[in-house]
Amino acid sequence: MPSGPPLGVVLLVTEDGCEVLTSYPYDLQPRTPRSGGPADGKWPMTTLSSWDVADGPGVTALGPGADVSDQEALHLHLHGSRYIGVRTRFYDDHLLAAAGDGIRQAVILGAGLDTRAYRLEWPPRFHFYEVDQPGVLEFKRAVLSGCSAEPRCERRTVGADLRGEWPAALHEAGFDSESRTAWVAEGLLAYLPAEAQQRLLERVHGLSPTASRLALDRIAGELDGDGGARLQRLSARSGIEMDRLMSAEARADIGDWLGSRSWTVEEVAADAVAARYGRDLGDPFRDRAEPAGSAQDAEPPWLDTVFLTARSGDG
Ligand SMILES: C[S@@+](CC[C@H](N)C(=O)[O-])C[C@H]1O[C@@H](n2cnc3c(N)ncnc32)[C@H](O)[C@@H]1O
Repeated sequence: MPSGPPLGVVLLVTEDGCEVLTSYPYDLQPRTPRSGGPADGKWPMTTLSSWDVADGPGVTALGPGADVSDQEALHLHLHGSRYIGVRTRFYDDHLLAAAGDGIRQAVILGAGLDTRAYRLEWPPRFHFYEVDQPGVLEFKRAVLSGCSAEPRCERRTVGADLRGEWPAALHEAGFDSESRTAWVAEGLLAYLPAEAQQRLLERVHGLSPTASRLALDRIAGELDGDGGARLQRLSARSGIEMDRLMSAEARADIGDWLGSRSWTVEEVAADAVAARYGRDLGDPFRDRAEPAGSAQDAEPPWLDTVFLTARSGDG
């Protein structure tokens, strides 16, 4: 696990899953969100100038009274809210399609604060396994029990290190490796060292009977080509220590690896996925005059990603 202060950013997603309304930083100590929920249960569309995200550890995002003329910060947060919304919807659709096709168990690797077990409708006897660090799952348990939230499926949490022997803990929680599974690795892989990513894929493959499904996202291009400078710039822009959280090691091509093991693979760039949902991840300031600056001004505000879906064959 990368060292450094434990840090989380909680994002609340709109009903159609395509925008993030607001976000809160947490230090992963159980506590109630500062703003709570609105009385009518509907979240108001939060404007950037009123985002309440100023004082969490490692987060220096826009806060009350922030200077929203800071184009770079605004671009970063607009992009983040759109990108995470689109990503959420993509994985919602992956899982709902699998359930619609008769799959009855899902494993969310690096589930974090994923609330799909609560948010979405599942068929009877659908099993949902959420694997993450025990501390993250405990934080989530405390927040959800504070809201009296009830899952709409058979939900099991599995506190385990995804670099280690997590399949044993997954089996102990009731996972059935003879049944088709819908796997999700959302926003996870860049946080794992290359070797751990590879081992994780091998395990997913080994635990997947024919016609299981997998969805994941990966960073487009390499992170390791510039001695870590890309991640350092991202950390500086976002105020989040991404260079300590993510691993910049070179990785084998996931699509090729799965393809050589009889998985049918489809890869789609994030902006194309966004376009499917009628969303644009492009720079909202592109029509304005560019401020004079260095090459890094031309970088997208966050790391570009590619979404991969795959279906296992009998190999
Ligand atoms: C960026 S978050 C994504 C969370 C969630 N999938 C989402 O998209 O909202 C990455 C998650 O991976 C988890 N994670 C990273 N490394 C891990 C490891 N070695 N073992 C278990 N979980 C890990 C983190 O705790 C975190 O919850």
